[in-house]
Amino acid sequence: MKGLTDRVVIVTGGGSGIGRATARRLVEEGSRVAIVDIDADAGRSAADELGSDAALALVGDVSCEEDVHHYFAEVAERFGRVDSLHNNAGIEGPLARLVDFELSEFQRLVRINYQGVFLNLREMLRTARAQRSPATIVNTSSGTGAHGVPQLGAYGSTKAAILGLTRAAAVESAKEGVRVNAIVPGPVETALFARFPDEFRDGVEGFIPQGRLGTAEEVAALVAFLLSDEAPFMTGGAYAIDGGELA
Ligand SMILES: NC(=O)c1ccc[n+]([C@@H]2O[C@H](COP(=O)([O-])OP(=O)(O)OC[C@H]3O[C@@H](n4cnc5c(N)ncnc54)[C@H](O)[C@@H]3O)[C@@H](O)[C@H]2O)c1
Repeated sequence: MKGLTDRVVIVTGGGSGIGRATARRLVEEGSRVAIVDIDADAGRSAADELGSDAALALVGDVSCEEDVHHYFAEVAERFGRVDSLHNNAGIEGPLARLVDFELSEFQRLVRINYQGVFLNLREMLRTARAQRSPATIVNTSSGTGAHGVPQLGAYGSTKAAILGLTRAAAVESAKEGVRVNAIVPGPVETALFARFPDEFRDGVEGFIPQGRLGTAEEVAALVAFLLSDEAPFMTGGAYAIDGGELA
């Protein structure tokens, strides 16, 4: 894909699932990747797989302002700059109806999934401004942010909020050459999806027109495309990748 050679990209949640597959795809395309994860072992094993010239593992919590500032600075020091961000780390929270949902669980989802995406988006915008360079950002939303899914209402609402941030950031920063898009995956075979109870997972495929889950590699290809120079006129969009679920 055009423009990914020598690109410096931060992938949050890059130790597992969609983020890990994206980091791998970007390195295959010639980018240098910083894998940020709160799980040190997962991040290190993802980076080891890709080799030390192309990948760097950094431990950090995406929802902590100090951590975010710190790991962006570390990437700039190691690779000279930061060009792109896959703003991807997230958690699913418990499966529960809103009527029963605990405030502490709601707050945790908002902190990691929404505040985390805001902090990383803001740091990427500040970095691009300081570097006087263009930048590309892909935020990971979810189909649950585009339609109501019973028992995933709190999670889905954080994913809907990400769509709002994506649009606002795209409009505000278009003139500076920054593009911001969101991906809207349906169910994808990852550790996150595997954590749901069997009875929930068994019902899901029936709702998907293609009759199967997506793979992390399929999502990674979309992320790489949106980050690359193959998509110069695409900003502020939300792109479903879901076997037809939202259709
Ligand atoms: N798998 C799906 O079905 C699906 C569908 C739609 C959207 N998504 C979204 O895709 C993203 C990636 O999900 P996945 O399925 O690959 O999950 P995953 O659990 O396989 O990977 C998520 C990674 O994020 C890391 N992480 C969690 N909290 C963090 C924090 N506070 N700071 C830094 N890292 C943190 C985890 O350690 C893990 O390595 C999430 O935002 C998720 O909501 C997933």
